[in-house]
Amino acid sequence: MTARDIPPATGKLGVLTPGLGAVASTFIAGVLTARQQGVAPLGSVSQMAHIRLGTRDEGRNPLIKDFVPIAKLDDIVFGGWDPISANALEAARTCGVLDERDLAPISAELEGVVAMDAVFDQKWVSRLDGTRVKKETNKWDQAMALMADIENFRTENNCDRLVMVWCGSTEAFQQASAVHETVASFEQGMKDNDDNISPSQLYVYAALQSDVPFANGAPNLSTDLPCMMELAKTRGVPIAGKDFKTGQTLMKTLIAPGLKARMLGLRGWYSTNILGNRDGEVLDAPENFKTKEESKLGVLHKILEPDVYPELYGNVDHVVRINYYPPRGDNKEGWDAIDIFGWMGYPMQIKIDFLCRDSILAAPIVLDLALFMDLAHRAGESGVQEWLSFYLKAPQSAGDAPAEQDLFIQQTKLKNTLREWMGEQAVTHSEVG
Ligand SMILES: NC(=O)c1ccc[n+]([C@@H]2O[C@H](COP(=O)([O-])OP(=O)(O)OC[C@H]3O[C@@H](n4cnc5c(N)ncnc54)[C@H](O)[C@@H]3O)[C@@H](O)[C@H]2O)c1
Repeated sequence: MTARDIPPATGKLGVLTPGLGAVASTFIAGVLTARQQGVAPLGSVSQMAHIRLGTRDEGRNPLIKDFVPIAKLDDIVFGGWDPISANALEAARTCGVLDERDLAPISAELEGVVAMDAVFDQKWVSRLDGTRVKKETNKWDQAMALMADIENFRTENNCDRLVMVWCGSTEAFQQASAVHETVASFEQGMKDNDDNISPSQLYVYAALQSDVPFANGAPNLSTDLPCMMELAKTRGVPIAGKDFKTGQTLMKTLIAPGLKARMLGLRGWYSTNILGNRDGEVLDAPENFKTKEESKLGVLHKILEPDVYPELYGNVDHVVRINYYPPRGDNKEGWDAIDIFGWMGYPMQIKIDFLCRDSILAAPIVLDLALFMDLAHRAGESGVQEWLSFYLKAPQSAGDAPAEQDLFIQQTKLKNTLREWMGEQAVTHSEVG
């Protein structure tokens, strides 16, 4: 196996987040704390995980960050856009994820991450009233304004490279339409102010035209549009989507492959959530919840393959609910009532009550996606990065077959991709290896 010729991660890496809310501010605060106080970046595979190389008896097991040339935490510079938050400190205080004692030592740096005025349209996020919004009204002009922001940020911060991770609100549900077919139709659509073009799509267009890899952390349509896949390929830029895999879906992709591995049947899976953050408020609007519901519902089907196993998974009632309940803030509670059956059809039940912290689970995903997207770009990759499905609830497929949903297969795919790029054999876990 020949290693790819990947240039080293020299200089500064700018990580730009459209959306400077709970997830983005928690991500920034965690990286600042790790580099200022040496606190371990828990939950980050790129920073904490080891990777086995060769056969088991070789004893080669370096940290991923020492094995692949990813950017160092010290070299990251942060930026973002938000129609409400003024800066990362204000965002962190408003969402209330982190305690004041954790924010105090890094408050000056957080305050220095000042939000740029957003391209925002309330039509797509009815529950938010944005005020820090760009004055351009034409969508083409808005995309150009975003591109100017990107170049200013690059110059002012002396960045070698940039990546963008969408941490903005989930936009209202939509289907792709004719305007999304090609880059040419999308460009004409922007000039015509086509109603089907949402703000997040303008950020993707601006990023790709500026040679900036883009990962989508929310479930709305953006990188998964034909025009964006075409643009990513022609510009030679990586894209990935969509929807950070945290909380309840993380649990689902842990449990469902286990049931399937043991050939246990599933009759129903009822999932409900209460959460009280701004995300929960946005998702309380039915048109925004529908976007999330689509992304959450797809998971089980792809893992369980009812077409292959009709007697086990051919009749599953899968229900997902999200309820906005302010007292909980960012500390979501996700309940799952799982009805399974085994030998001779006898029913059993599993209950999960996951008292999780959404942004604490999402923050390391933002870091890993940013570092790995930058690595992919330097490794000469373009288009959909399916090997990053590990982090995403509704992973975008690079080809015709749907992307893998099983967390353990996704993990193997991620690690084997890194091994191959570095000239190491894939690990198959067969008897010989
Ligand atoms: N926290 C998780 O575990 C998790 C998991 C999966 C997906 N997500 C998604 O990640 C996104 C961020 O979540 P969050 O908890 O930080 O939400 P949040 O509401 O705290 O932050 C989102 C921010 O995006 C801003 N925004 C809205 N439209 C924008 C636009 N057009 N341009 C720039 N900024 C815009 C909002 O003002 C807000 O500050 C949401 O879409 C959420 O659904 C979160």
